[in-house]
Amino acid sequence: MSVPIPFNKSSQQGKELDYIYHTISNGQVSGDQSFSKKCQSLLEDTLGVQKALITTSCTHALEMAAILLKIQPNDEVIIPAFTFVSTANAFVLHGARPIFCDIRPDTLNLDESKLESLITKQTRAIVVVHYAGVGCEMDKILEIANHHGIAVVEDNAHGLFGKYRNRWLGTFGCLATQSFHETKNITCGEGGALLINNEKFIERAEIIREKGTDRTRFFRGQVDKYSWVDVGSSYVMSDILAAFLYGQLEKWQEIQKKRENIWKRYNKELSDWAAQNGVRRPIVPEHCEQAFHMYYLLMPSGECRSKFIAQLKDRDVMAVFHYLPLNSSKFAVQMTEKSWQKFQCPVSEDVADRLVRLPFYSNMSHDDQSRVLEAVLKFDSLT
Ligand SMILES: Cc1ncc(COP(=O)(O)O)c(C=O)c1O
Repeated sequence: MSVPIPFNKSSQQGKELDYIYHTISNGQVSGDQSFSKKCQSLLEDTLGVQKALITTSCTHALEMAAILLKIQPNDEVIIPAFTFVSTANAFVLHGARPIFCDIRPDTLNLDESKLESLITKQTRAIVVVHYAGVGCEMDKILEIANHHGIAVVEDNAHGLFGKYRNRWLGTFGCLATQSFHETKNITCGEGGALLINNEKFIERAEIIREKGTDRTRFFRGQVDKYSWVDVGSSYVMSDILAAFLYGQLEKWQEIQKKRENIWKRYNKELSDWAAQNGVRRPIVPEHCEQAFHMYYLLMPSGECRSKFIAQLKDRDVMAVFHYLPLNSSKFAVQMTEKSWQKFQCPVSEDVADRLVRLPFYSNMSHDDQSRVLEAVLKFDSLT
């Protein structure tokens, strides 16, 4: 038996351990200490966002976005049906109705041609997800959102350091969120960030993140004591994790380059096999510089995908499927049956059934990738 090739494996990329040692030996382990500030400055300087606040997760950054946008019961929030549950839950927690938009068959991003028909007087936000780190059609999405005066939030969990028409993902919406979960390009195990592109949200975001208090202003010496001033929760990341995160963030170019090489090798070496087996490889439009977050394949059918995953597993290669469409999830069906419309999202349903992700992680060795390729190339969809 060979050692299995996992779907994902996090690894040290730089000085993570030194920095963790440093933060503990300096006695600075709570939030907003020196490594948190370094992470935030790096994100602000690199992406050019007005403010970056690191958080305990992307889910929590999305929850902060919902509070900042003052989402109320029965407000409608448009989200792609093909996404992680947090994209919806962060807003549903505040009573919003998720309005599920189908995805484009090419990039698997929210289908902007369907947006207008979903907008009503109750629509308060459009949340986009740059699936696999390939940008959504932001020109059209922003045009529609601006025309109707609706906020755009980018759930950029996959897209850090990707670009759309030469502009960083995470800089289009008034708010954007990042994930530093173990499966992401840059990680600290569990973590996230809120990127703020509209100055009017900065002060309140700092308060929401600090349990509804003006503690951040107090630490800056702007008030002489801090107190309860608004709603909020505990979204501050410990500096131990921030130290880990900074060790990775300062190596972002190297990490992205490694991932680019892995992605391009998969794409090149699977090209003939994919054509012969009716398998579709990822589509990246020319105007998008992707973030190299994952390598997926669209198999000809759901049945074929199950066979493919099983055969790879027999060869100790762990390939996995991805999101189940949220519109047909048990919870969404219960919610929508009781209250409002049902959503037909045929592309999301179809893609969810056929999509498979190959093992993909920053330190994947050439040999391990060869083993994955060998296993994939042995699969014949026609048998
Ligand atoms: C699109 C998307 N949004 C949000 C999340 C949640 O991220 P986190 O685990 O950092 O809360 C994920 C997780 O994978 C995701 O894929």
